Amino acid sequence: MAMITGPLSGDAKDTVAQALQGALVDLIDLSLVAKQAHWNLIGPHFRPIHLQLDELTELARSHMDTIAERAVAVGINPDGRSTTVAKSTKLQQPESGWIEDGKVVATITDLLDGVSKRMHERVRATDEPDPVTQDLLIAVAQDIDKQHWMFQAQA
Ligand SMILES: [Fe+2]
Repeated sequence: MAMITGPLSGDAKDTVAQALQGALVDLIDLSLVAKQAHWNLIGPHFRPIHLQLDELTELARSHMDTIAERAVAVGINPDGRSTTVAKSTKLQQPESGWIEDGKVVATITDLLDGVSKRMHERVRATDEPDPVTQDLLIAVAQDIDKQHWMFQAQA
């Protein structure tokens, strides 16, 4: 059986694996929550928020692929299964049914605040073990922080 080994080993590899898997779950669930809100949104500010939520979904999807493929490149198996995401996500799930625009903005702002903090922790954790992974996480954090600002500005 083919094995992808990559440049890392030992503790460094474990740290990087944890950071990448955590980031992957955050990004997958962020894309799901953003779509859920995109569909169930109601209220006078429907249009801009509806569109902004799709921007967030696209951004999460694009970064999740970069993150998962970095994992593979360093010999770590990304786990994007729905059962794994459901078990390990730190994102609070939205309620079912309609969600009013103000509530959506507050909820997404909160979620992005949490994702941002965790991404920054991962940036710090990967500094020594793998600056290449760190660089990718910095790019993710940059986009998450920007989205956080743009949702927060509407609250
Ligand atoms: Fe849509």
